Formats: sequence, structure tokens, C-alpha cells
Amino acid sequence: MEIYVDTANLVEIKEAHELGILDGVTTNPSLIAKEGIDYGVRLAEICEVVSGPVSAEVIATEAKAMIAEGKERAKIASNIVVKLPTTVDGLKACKVLSDEGIKTNMTLCFQPLQAMMVAKAGAYLVSPFIGRLDDIGEDGTELIARIRTIYDNYGFETKILAASIRHPKHMLECAMIGADVATLPLKVIKQMMNHPLTDSGIETFLADYAKAFG
Ligand code: G3P
Repeated sequence: MEIYVDTANLVEIKEAHELGILDGVTTNPSLIAKEGIDYGVRLAEICEVVSGPVSAEVIATEAKAMIAEGKERAKIASNIVVKLPTTVDGLKACKVLSDEGIKTNMTLCFQPLQAMMVAKAGAYLVSPFIGRLDDIGEDGTELIARIRTIYDNYGFETKILAASIRHPKHMLECAMIGADVATLPLKVIKQMMNHPLTDSGIETFLADYAKAFG
């Protein structure tokens, strides 16, 4: 399973990269707004740290403008993936950019047929937002399972990127279902390595060792 960090904060990205298991980065307009820096400048900085896919979201909402903006973003570095909203215009832009060899990540996917359509348009990634579905009383991980079934039924190669992951349980469920990629905050990446029995076990081992050997 590939793991991306979901942030535009360079300090967090460097920390995640230093773990040695980071496969990519996702950003969005809300995340870059928190940083107060030009989006293009920050994307270039991220691509200097991470060689895997770095998602850059377009601000445009109309297909032609999305295509133009996507092409500009793709010039920043060879690992830029153009992130487009999962709308009719986004679908059109996805098809054009994919046909030209530019990778796309279709974001804000909330139902399985959206995922089927963008796969037909050649999307490299589709981003179902599981936390936001849970927020409105739906089952986010069920969406991942349905997309997995559809993609496996027809051999679609689009990767399922589980997004809007809020805690390790989301991550575990996505891994059990077979999401190809998950993007998550640094905090959740670190939480995946936590267990109180690991900590208490280390304490006991070290105390026993100190007692015997000083
Ligand atoms: O990857 C999508 C993510 O940035 C959205 O997460 O927690 O705002 O729903 P959240």
C-alpha cells in the first residue's frame, strides 16, 4: 500500500520523508491557504524533497481553464499529478490531460459511479473522501469497497487513493479492503506505529537489562 502525506507544510513533509516510507504528497487549496505561500513556489519546494507523485489541485472549475492550469502545474516538475474536481468539467479535463500523458488525481469523489467514470477517462488516481462521508452519517470505507469491486470487475488501472482519513481505524479498513494508496495527515502516519504494549515492553526490557548488568 502506498502512503502519501496530506499537507502543504514543508516541515511536515520533510519529517514524513525522513521516515523512509513516504510515497507521495497530496495538497489542496485549503491546505496551501494555511501556509500563506504561493502555491507554485510551494509545489516546487515539495518536489525537491519528494520524488514520488505530488498532487497539485487546480483552482479553475471549467474544463478549458482546468486543462490550461493543469498544463502549467505539470511544468513545475515531472512528478506533479494534476488534481481535478470530480465534476463533468473535471471529467473532460481528465480525459484531455490523460491523453496527453499528464497524470491526474480526481478529487472530492463521493460515490462509486464517479470513480467508474474517471477511470474510463484515464485518471491515474481517484480520491474518495471517507472522513467527510462519515461526517454526514454515511459509511466512507464502504465507498472504498464498492470502488474496489468495480475496478476489479473491469480491470480499471486507476489507483484508489483513500483520502480524508482521520484516524488509524480508517487506515486499517482501507488496507483490508485493498485501497492502492492512502493519503493522511502526518499525525495519523505516526499514530499507526503506536501501541502501549510496545512502550511498556521496551521499558521492561531495559529495566531488566539494567538490573542484571548495571
Ligand atoms: O485528502 C483530502 C483531505 O485533505 C481532506 O481531509 O479531513 O479535510 O476531510 P478532511
